[in-house]
Amino acid sequence: VDVRLDLFAEIERLKKEKNAVILAHYYQEPDIQDVADFIGDSLGLAQQAARTDADIIVFAGVHFMAETAKILNPHKKVLLPDLKAGCSLADSAPPELFKKFKEKYPDHVVVSYVNCSAGIKALSDIICTSSNAEKIIESIPKDQPIIFAPDRNLGAYLVKKTGRDMVLWNGACMVHEIFSLEKITRLKALHPGAKVIAHPECEAAVLEVADYIGSTTGLLKFSQRDDAQEYIVVTETGILHQMQKNNPGKTFIPAPPNNACACNDCPHMKLNTLEKLYLCMEYEQPEITMEEHLRLAAKKPIDRMLEISA
Ligand code: 13P
Ligand code: SF4
Repeated sequence: VDVRLDLFAEIERLKKEKNAVILAHYYQEPDIQDVADFIGDSLGLAQQAARTDADIIVFAGVHFMAETAKILNPHKKVLLPDLKAGCSLADSAPPELFKKFKEKYPDHVVVSYVNCSAGIKALSDIICTSSNAEKIIESIPKDQPIIFAPDRNLGAYLVKKTGRDMVLWNGACMVHEIFSLEKITRLKALHPGAKVIAHPECEAAVLEVADYIGSTTGLLKFSQRDDAQEYIVVTETGILHQMQKNNPGKTFIPAPPNNACACNDCPHMKLNTLEKLYLCMEYEQPEITMEEHLRLAAKKPIDRMLEISA
C-alpha cells in the first residue's frame, strides 16, 4: 500500500476546510508556487494580504513578509511554514542600532525597504518595496532629507534615479551580492542577443550592465512584453519558474555567482518546502504573533505606502 500523502491534494483540502489562502513569493520552490493562490512580489503580496477575506493566511515567503501580513491582519491567523525563514537584509538592521543611527539625523524622514523587521518599521515614516520605491521617494518634498534603510544597493540605485541626497544604512542581501560582473559580461558575449534583467538589490556595477531593472514582478512582466528570445536573469532563481511557464519559447539563464561554491538560491526562502507547508496548515503552526503596540507602530508606515501605491 502506498501510504505517501498526495501533498498537493491534502493542501487543497486544507485550504477549503480552513478557509485558508496561500500567498507565495516568486523565490519559493516551484511546487509551492504551483499550489499557491497568489504569487507575487513583496508589494503584491502585501496588497493581497490587506484585502483577503480568508481566516488563515499561509505565507510561503520569509519572516518579514509574514510579519507584514500579520500587521495588516491582527485578527487572522498568519502561518509561516518555517519560522527560521529569515532574511540577511532584514537581519542587517537591528532596531537598537538603527535607533541610535536615526538619532544622529533628527531632521530626516526615514524610508525603509519592506525587507526589515517590525521593529525597524516601527522606527520608519514610510515603507517601500522595490516596485514602488521611486514613487515613494518622489512623494517626499524635494528639500526633505532622507534616511534610507536597510539596503545600500537599492538606496544607491534610488539616489541615482531620483537625484535625492539620502543617508544609507549599510545593509545588503546575501543573494544579490554574489553576482559576478565579469561572469555576466562573459556570458553576455556568448549570448549576444540576450538581455540582462536585474533586481535593484544588486550592486551598482552589475546594475550598470542591465537592460532592465525591476522588482520580481517587474522582471517577469518585462520578460513577457519584450521581444528578445534569451535573458540573463540577475536575481534569485525561483523567479525562473514563472518566466519559463509564461514564455515557453524563450530561454532564461540564471546569472552566474562569483565563485563556484556560491549559489543564487536564497537559503531563507528555500527553507520552506511543500511538506512543511502541508504540516503548518494541518497543525496551524508556526504562527506569527506580535505585541499590539509594536504592530500599531509598524502599521502606520505600511499604511502610508499602501495609500500611495493603491
Ligand atoms: P520583490 O519581490 O519585491 O522584488 O523583492 C525581492 C526580494 O528580495 C524579496 O526578498
Ligand atoms: Fe532576504 Fe535576499 Fe533572501 Fe530576499 S533574497 S529574503 S532580500 S536574503
